Amino acid sequence: MKPALLEILRAPGSLASLHLEPSSVVGDETEVGTLRAADGRSYEVRAAIPRFTRINDAGQAQTRDAFGFKWARRETYDSDASRDRVARWCLERYGFPSVDAWASHFLELGRVLDLGCGSGLSSGVWLSSSGWSAEGMWVGVDVSTAVDVARARFVSIANTHFVQADALDLPFDDGTFGAVFSEGVLHHTPSTRAALLSAARVLASGGEMSFYVYRKKGPAREFTDDYVRAAIRDLSDEDAWEAMRGLTMLGQALASLKTTVEVPEAVPMLGIAAGPQDIQRFVYWNFVKLYWNDALSLEENVHINFDWFRPTYAHRQTAEEVRAWCEEASLDVRRFNEQESGFTVVARKR
Ligand SMILES: C[S@@+](CC[C@H](N)C(=O)[O-])C[C@H]1O[C@@H](n2cnc3c(N)ncnc32)[C@H](O)[C@@H]1O
Repeated sequence: MKPALLEILRAPGSLASLHLEPSSVVGDETEVGTLRAADGRSYEVRAAIPRFTRINDAGQAQTRDAFGFKWARRETYDSDASRDRVARWCLERYGFPSVDAWASHFLELGRVLDLGCGSGLSSGVWLSSSGWSAEGMWVGVDVSTAVDVARARFVSIANTHFVQADALDLPFDDGTFGAVFSEGVLHHTPSTRAALLSAARVLASGGEMSFYVYRKKGPAREFTDDYVRAAIRDLSDEDAWEAMRGLTMLGQALASLKTTVEVPEAVPMLGIAAGPQDIQRFVYWNFVKLYWNDALSLEENVHINFDWFRPTYAHRQTAEEVRAWCEEASLDVRRFNEQESGFTVVARKR
């Protein structure tokens, strides 16, 4: 933990100030130590990361562990092909022409909080570009041990900081950040709405909130989403990963058909649109998520299906809900990008 992070850290809940008692320091970084709060509580600093995670909710604990498990498997996502996929998908949705332009945008906003940074796959898109510099400050927060993976991945990137904490109980004062970026995270907490309100609290007036959350799909797809999630709930993470392989290969088999189905007329009660659709995408969007992408390896594809089905918390929402929560959080929506999978929102805090 570097000194610049200590300046903005507070005790979760009370937001009391923190005093650091280091027991091992390397350069200017505290590797091991204790953070003592003016409210009497204390928190450990371990492997150079302050740890604020006291999770009492069983669903959140399972979700945390599922992500800790999958982000540790770097060989299943940390390839050029996976990083390219994420970069293209993010630039398109957030509306930037290049990763440099996206990095410059964040630099102008001031301190950036990546809420639910995971291993830093999405932030890494712009942090690793030449548009980022030490003048900016990036703070990655995650409830899981993925934050250790992010630290290992970002070791040579300037002014990056790491905190293990809960999005619903953030260890920062109100208005600490000029930007909060939360890509695919808020719906993995007990309440998407509460997580958005919590994120908005630490955002300064005039600051920018950018986030992506899942969209509610048609009833058949919603049913299998919940059914498969429940069916693998009691498995170990390893067995749940294995259980994703057959499903992934079925996606591959359907994709290899390269066949289009012509839906003659929309079927609104099932959320099915009219028109030509690739058979794998047709099954994927309307009946069961069988992710497959030819550009990725089998294990990379399994990773993406695990990401979807394994966490207990993976709420899907409507556009109306997301807009109402933004209003409640004093966020003026500037960009509301709707995809089949979810909503990408950029908003300014009033
Ligand atoms: C799908 S991953 C996205 C990671 C990263 N934002 C990215 O795009 O690469 C979701 C992340 O949210 C984190 N998460 C879930 N619940 C959280 C919570 N209550 N507080 C902080 N992080 C949370 C998980 O641990 C996981 O790393």
